Amino acid sequence: MSVALAQQLREGTKKSHTMAENTGFVTCFLKGVVDKSSYRNLVADLYFVYSAMEEEIGVLRAHNHPVVAPVGFPELNRCKALEEDLEFYFGLDWISIVKPTAGAQAYVTRIREIARETPELLVAHHYTRYIGDLSGGQILKKIAQKAMNLGDHEGLRFYEFDDISNEKAFKTNYSMTLNSLPIDQNMADLIVQEANRAFEFNMQMFKELEGSLIAAIGKVLFGFLTRRQRVGSTEI
Ligand code: HEM
Repeated sequence: MSVALAQQLREGTKKSHTMAENTGFVTCFLKGVVDKSSYRNLVADLYFVYSAMEEEIGVLRAHNHPVVAPVGFPELNRCKALEEDLEFYFGLDWISIVKPTAGAQAYVTRIREIARETPELLVAHHYTRYIGDLSGGQILKKIAQKAMNLGDHEGLRFYEFDDISNEKAFKTNYSMTLNSLPIDQNMADLIVQEANRAFEFNMQMFKELEGSLIAAIGKVLFGFLTRRQRVGSTEI
């Protein structure tokens, strides 16, 4: 038996999507207010989340799990791209420097937990992150590149899906795959519920990163105001 999971996920997470778009960190990002130090912390958090997802989904794929294996398209994998970005931001020794925030750690713990207990729910995490990256990624890449004054590929590999030439066709195929998974309505409801949870984990991570972004904005603003004061005092 299969259900229209793609439509149910889209409808069932609409509110969460709007809420995620309206978090302070994401709103600032969309307005081009993003500094390298908070962005690289986001990349580090994402690295831990994707490592856990790709490891767990990789194992389930190897065992031909009937629900998880079909969505585990290897061309979506982000770990290698994130590693390249981390090397760009933190240097060759990035692995000994980066640490997950508490929010990212909780997200990883949840991924590991469901992989052990109810692997079908990994579909929810897979959809929330990868299809989100594929959908909004190109807009975000352009914004990040401009805001941080980066070259074409520098530190932005995360947004580049080299093995997906037609994003729209890929998403159509992904939706068809979701709709053909051997699940019943009860499992579909649990997957939609888990996708909303995945959005919450993301929002929690953004909230933590917002702190470092506000500190960075504060520093710039302080520099700007004190410079104005100095300029003002010479004028007087
Ligand atoms: C910067 C803010 C964001 C922008 C500008 C953005 C933009 C978009 C756009 C344009 C779409 C395509 C909608 C369509 O095909 O009709 C989309 C879909 C999606 N986004 Fe976002 N998004 C943002 C944040 C997020 C976040 C934070 C997440 C989750 C962590 C996310 C997850 C998704 C998902 C799962 C979809 C697929 C919806 C579906 O077709 O089923 N988005 N987003």
